[in-house]
Amino acid sequence: MKPYLSIEQLTQRFPDGSGGQLTVFENATFGVEKGEFVVILGHSGCGKSTIMNILAGLADPTSGSVIMDGQEVKGPSLDRGVVFQNYSLLPWLTTLKNVTFGVRARHPDWTRAQIDEHATKFLAMVGLEGDVIHRKPSQLSGGMRQRVSIARAFANHPKLLLLDEPFGALDALTRGTIQDELLKIWGQMEQTVFMITHDIDEAILLADRILLMTNGPHARVAESVEITIPRPRNRTEIVEHPNYYAIRNHLVQFLGKRSKELAGQLATPGQPNAPETVRIDTTQTNDDPADTRPALKAVNS
Ligand SMILES: Nc1ncnc2c1ncn2[C@@H]1O[C@H](COP(=O)(O)OP(=O)(O)OP(=O)(O)O)[C@@H](O)[C@H]1O
Ligand SMILES: [Mg+2]
Repeated sequence: MKPYLSIEQLTQRFPDGSGGQLTVFENATFGVEKGEFVVILGHSGCGKSTIMNILAGLADPTSGSVIMDGQEVKGPSLDRGVVFQNYSLLPWLTTLKNVTFGVRARHPDWTRAQIDEHATKFLAMVGLEGDVIHRKPSQLSGGMRQRVSIARAFANHPKLLLLDEPFGALDALTRGTIQDELLKIWGQMEQTVFMITHDIDEAILLADRILLMTNGPHARVAESVEITIPRPRNRTEIVEHPNYYAIRNHLVQFLGKRSKELAGQLATPGQPNAPETVRIDTTQTNDDPADTRPALKAVNS
């Protein structure tokens, strides 16, 4: 059976600016289950935002397809909410109206009071309350704008939430609070999330699974690392879980070393390029009693 969101042999090429072609990735193939929280990690320029734009229906791949809930993704839809890397808000609308805009489209039968109340609730969740919600984006700080963009996406409760480095402009304290809020909202609603971040600890805290991308060009999603740490998780306790540092080290090694070593390895023409599933669980013992290393199992998916 197909996963809820199925990315099938996705290839993206762009003109390289000097008459040739740049292959960002080739035949990328992976899936995301309903309600799953998947984070993608990879170096700058490997093609993360490009994948996200295709998932959002905002860009067409060179070849391949994206199927969500049995339907091919073609063009943008209210079913897919996006928080962009540059948190694009509508500059002529107030903070509140930037949020109500989408809520009204999603719930045409709601009264204005219901729409305002719903939007206000989600703005309060990200710490925006009072007069500030009547200000325009140009009158807000970068971090505030980013929070409006997060509230706007959550308020619509899309089938798929796409987050492109949504916390990049936030200070550490606010970032922590919003990560907690995101986990809370995600726990309450059955929300499928696909998120890009550069922050390894944030990825482990939030994700069910982390997809690791090799460096581009010809990048690929090389591994799918399961986060074998039970929920609910919180930022202070998660570091004490026996699997935390084993997973963290694996990710650091990949980004520091293997993402380069594996870079540019061409896909077999026409073959799907699916990631290897990696499960790191130090609480499980190895079958071989002579082997005292922590269990690190890599199974082909
Ligand atoms: N519209 C476009 N035309 C030509 N090249 C593009 C276009 N969009 C992206 N690229 C190229 O594709 C590659 C991947 O870009 P992308 O923005 O997806 O990277 P990223 O992984 O999101 O990086 P970052 O972490 O810096 O945000 C880059 O080499 C970029 O220059
Ligand atoms: Mg990007």
